[in-house]
Amino acid sequence: MSNATDETFISQLLAQMTLEEKIGQLNQINPGDEFDPSLLQEGKAGSLINASGALTGMGFSDSGSAELSNHFQKLTLESRLKIPLIFGRDVIHGFRTVFPIPLAQAAAFDPDLARQAASIAAREATTSGIKWTFAPMLDIARDPRWGRVAEGNGEDPFLGSQMATAIVQGFQGEDISAPDKLVACAKHYVGYGAAEGGRDYENGEISEPTLRDIYLPPFRAAVEAGAGTLMSAFIDLNGIPATANRRLLTDVLRGEWGFDGFVVSDWESIKELIHHGVAEDDAHAARLALQAGLDMDMVSGVYLNTLGESLRQGKISMEEIDEAVRRILRIKHRAGLFDHPFTDPLRATRDLLTPESRDLARQFARQSMVLLKNDRDLLPFKDFRRILVAGPFVHARGELFGTWTPDGRAEDVTPLDEALRQTAPKGTELWFTENVDMALHLAHQADAVLLLLGEHPVRSGENCNVSDLGLPPGQAEFVQAMTALGKPLALVVFAGRPLAITQQVKVADAVLYAWHPGIEGGAALGEILFGQASPSGRLPITFPRATGQVPIYYNHKNSGRPIDPNGEFKTRYLDLPPSPLFPFGFGLTYTRFEYSNLKLSAETLRGALEINAEITNIGTSPGTEVVQLYVRDLVGSLTRPIRELKGFQRVELQPGETCRVTFTLREEDLAFTRADGTFGVEPGSFHVWIASDSKSGLNGHFRL
Ligand code: GLC
Repeated sequence: MSNATDETFISQLLAQMTLEEKIGQLNQINPGDEFDPSLLQEGKAGSLINASGALTGMGFSDSGSAELSNHFQKLTLESRLKIPLIFGRDVIHGFRTVFPIPLAQAAAFDPDLARQAASIAAREATTSGIKWTFAPMLDIARDPRWGRVAEGNGEDPFLGSQMATAIVQGFQGEDISAPDKLVACAKHYVGYGAAEGGRDYENGEISEPTLRDIYLPPFRAAVEAGAGTLMSAFIDLNGIPATANRRLLTDVLRGEWGFDGFVVSDWESIKELIHHGVAEDDAHAARLALQAGLDMDMVSGVYLNTLGESLRQGKISMEEIDEAVRRILRIKHRAGLFDHPFTDPLRATRDLLTPESRDLARQFARQSMVLLKNDRDLLPFKDFRRILVAGPFVHARGELFGTWTPDGRAEDVTPLDEALRQTAPKGTELWFTENVDMALHLAHQADAVLLLLGEHPVRSGENCNVSDLGLPPGQAEFVQAMTALGKPLALVVFAGRPLAITQQVKVADAVLYAWHPGIEGGAALGEILFGQASPSGRLPITFPRATGQVPIYYNHKNSGRPIDPNGEFKTRYLDLPPSPLFPFGFGLTYTRFEYSNLKLSAETLRGALEINAEITNIGTSPGTEVVQLYVRDLVGSLTRPIRELKGFQRVELQPGETCRVTFTLREEDLAFTRADGTFGVEPGSFHVWIASDSKSGLNGHFRL
């Protein structure tokens, strides 16, 4: 946090600044082709975003470099007050070492792994002069049609908060001014995932209790972890665009949470206040955002072009400008940019793509993959001499990266077929083809068939929303055709979202969800398919049976006619069972676990309550279980979710081994936004589960 010395430095600098220099700090520029570097010498930019526009997330943007950043920084330090630039970039899930997409990382239910990955991403990104990443993306998502579900941590606020804390700590470390640390940016504040229809940029309606208890917690966790910045969301939330929402940007973020960093807009989202219909023109948009508590304008230019005149017209005050400048200077100073504004070019020769970072990427990919079905224990493959491997991903390289990977390079990736060959046991023949006819032909001679399906990363991420959650065109037919041959059939699905693979799950013997697993995804997949590693991922988001089931999520309300498949007037659809295809928290392993002997330390929770149970590996191979703790508040002044995740632990057990897993539940863990708008607990009865997913588990009761 800031100290008196920092604040003195910032006040003294602020006192010397002209109005133009102050407004320059509020301006972020994208140095595209028409960029005029003299703006830097005139102090008209506080930050450069190292992006080449909307395609940035698709790998079409050239990486920066220490030399380029140093060149721009040198020009900036020729300005009168020599205030250094802060370079920002979307380092979302890795830089050159591309880790699994964030949704896959959440599936590992291992925040410490996410912290380590973020730390490596920071070490790598800073070699090119980047000092600020526009991550972690913390949007709770309940609608897989939305392309950006790939970028967040799924549907649950507890898991999302754990990941937020870990990733911020990974990026920023203990000392944010260290040359290999990045300033984090919790985004998109707030509610972007509730955009209607799962369509980016659409408006969303979220009630205050849901906003407080579902969408805001991960952002609060990021702020409490010391995140230096936040980014406002594009969304029109309840009629007030997030970029001009003073209650959220100032009253909540600063008034309630004590955030002292700065908020950057999303791409041109200040100027977009005109489209939203709350601003008449650029000047009005700029005033609304600044006075709401939005400090830096990402690339729209409306702050630079209009704030001076608005001040002269008395429509904004110098104090309002000063407060935004102070926040930006505070983060720049805390990040050490005044002391060391330049980057050592030699770092890029030693800090990128190290063996250790590849190992972590492989471990993360292994831990994130989720085994959804495994009839006849088809996986891991055993004793098959010839396996046909077919589908659009057989030669995948960059396709394994997923969205927002501008600095990943396909040539760094071992092609998937080669990676599988390297991990397959001796004597196992793998035949690869992308061609359907060839696949059908070869299948007749194969002992088993492995299909590698799913969505290409260009169908995932920003503005990549789909109206149909089925597999991409042609793939369902392909699976159907391959099924007809009656060979043992395993599916691996690469995707940035839950896909409604109901029919495919029905006909396949085994299904493994690999998400977009990153640079080491091929090797990780091979290790799991051939048994050198066991799957341990769990779903961080509910899988719908069909697009029409959306939104569907585990922590829903009970309704007056709770779901009962056999009940009258209690169904949810005529044409579908009410349950999801797979529930939140679900995932199989290569062994089986038994839960027994649930115990509570008391019948009434006073201060804290211990809940524990025995978990036994009753199978024949080692495995990792993600033991989950859920509660249900049976009666509240507002209706309460039928389950809420309050804890999880990964436990590795050998065959026959038993361990007792204990959770401690505290009174504050049961607090919620009550009918009167206050946050707190209410006495009453609670259910509690220790479970392997959000639909099962050993059930106990306690009172508060
Ligand atoms: C994009 C995204 C945001 C990203 C920014 C800079 O529109 O919404 O997440 O950080 O622009 O690329």
